[in-house]
Order: sequence, then structure tokens, then C-alpha cells
Amino acid sequence: MNREEDGDDEVVCLDESFFINDDYQLTTFTFGSQVLHLFCLQSASTDFDLTGQLVWPGAMLMNDYLSKNPDVLQASSILELGSGVGVTGILCSRFCREVLLTDHNEEVLKILKKNIEHHTSSENPNSDAGLAVEKLEWGNSDQINKIIQKYPDMTLLSILCCFQQSSISPLFDTVEQFLRLKGRGQCKFILAYVSRAKSMDSMVLNEATRHGLLINEIVGTRSVVGNLEGVIFEVTLK
Ligand SMILES: C[S@@+](CC[C@H](N)C(=O)[O-])C[C@H]1O[C@@H](n2cnc3c(N)ncnc32)[C@H](O)[C@@H]1O
Repeated sequence: MNREEDGDDEVVCLDESFFINDDYQLTTFTFGSQVLHLFCLQSASTDFDLTGQLVWPGAMLMNDYLSKNPDVLQASSILELGSGVGVTGILCSRFCREVLLTDHNEEVLKILKKNIEHHTSSENPNSDAGLAVEKLEWGNSDQINKIIQKYPDMTLLSILCCFQQSSISPLFDTVEQFLRLKGRGQCKFILAYVSRAKSMDSMVLNEATRHGLLINEIVGTRSVVGNLEGVIFEVTLK
């Protein structure tokens, strides 16, 4: 327990473990003919920064799209931003050579690694299934440069997200850095976006444009996920 002096008052801070729920349940997800078993929470934590402990509607949208259109991934190497428990990156590994799953939250990285170990040992115990994990904070140029040097063959970048407004700019900053470092035509970003507010919809389009990116809706992907409307965008350099 931490104690902080605040004038005459002594404030007692709860240890961070008080807020962390890591009672993950092994859960089955089916996307077309693809079945995945992953550890995740069934409901969101009260701490916003732990959003990655469960599977979000954007991931359901993205995984449905990828399972119906695996040619999008064939022979590619994928970098996923904000992987959470890994439901999309692990699905991608069924269709492509190499997948790098990333997140910034230490607690989320723990369950992500556990899911990759579980997937690898249950599905293909003699291989690492081409799955790797790295810590990546959006906008962190050092981490981005290190990843590009360590994984030079990555050609496609993917993420799924329901956004917090404050994440939108660093997210597109990261996407821009990757696309510019890889070079025009070498890399694209696929975004599953689930709308929760009109203001956020326009912020996503404006931020992409502000970062010199073209953002185009992939025809036929607009659909309802739960009670929300989602769509998949393809994002490239202008
Ligand atoms: C809404 S969750 C989505 C998780 C998973 N992709 C899904 O759709 O189920 C957003 C994810 O992005 C990660 N994230 C949020 N802000 C980030 C940042 N600034 N840098 C890196 N990762 C971030 C969170 O830890 C979380 O795993």
C-alpha cells in the first residue's frame, strides 16, 4: 500500500493489483470455417487502459472480413497495432507467413503472449506459427524504427479498434511513419472501425488526411456489429 502526504491529510493509494482482473476464460470464436480458442475477459475493465483484455466488435468485423477474403493476407507479413488478446493476429497467422502482434499495455502483453503459446502448443506444437509479440506505443519513433529493422519483410499493417479520441492522432502518426519508411506501394493499413459517435467518425477521416493518407472504405464491408455500425477502411499514402 502506498501512502502520499497531501497537506495534513494522508492519502492511501491502493496497489495496482486491486484494479486488475485477470480471471481470463478460454473462449471459442468462430469466423466462417476458422475456429479460435483464446483466453480473454467477458466484459470490460473499469480501467480504460485495459481495453485489450477482451475482444471488441471491431475485431469481430475484421475477422469476418479476413476469413471471407483470405487472399488479402496471402503471402504477406502482417504487423498488427493494438492486438489486445490477439484474436486478429492469430487468425491472420492461418493465412500468411509471419505476424507481429503489438500492444503498449504490459498486462495486455502478458495475456497476448499466453494466447500465442496456447495457440501454438494446441495447433502446431513443433512450430512458432510465425507469431511474434513486441511492445509498441503508438507514435514512438524509436520503437517503430527498431521494429522495421528487426522485421524488414512486413508488407501490410492491420488493426482493429474502437477508438478513444485521444488515440486517433498517435495511431495515424504510427501508420504514417510505417507507410513512409516502407515506401509507397509496399505497405497498406487495414482498419476495422466501429462507430460510436459522429464526431469520432469525422475525426478519423480528418486525422488520416492530416497525416497525408488516403482512406477508402472497402466496398461491401459496412455492417452492423451488435448495436454498432462498422466498416473496413484501406489506408495508403497519398
Ligand atoms: C479497443 S482495444 C482493441 C483490442 C483488439 N484489437 C480487439 O479489437 O479486440 C484497443 C487496443 O489498443 C491498445 N492501445 C490503446 N492505445 C494504445 C497506444 N497508444 N499504443 C499502443 N497500443 C494501444 C490497447 O491496449 C488495446 O489492446
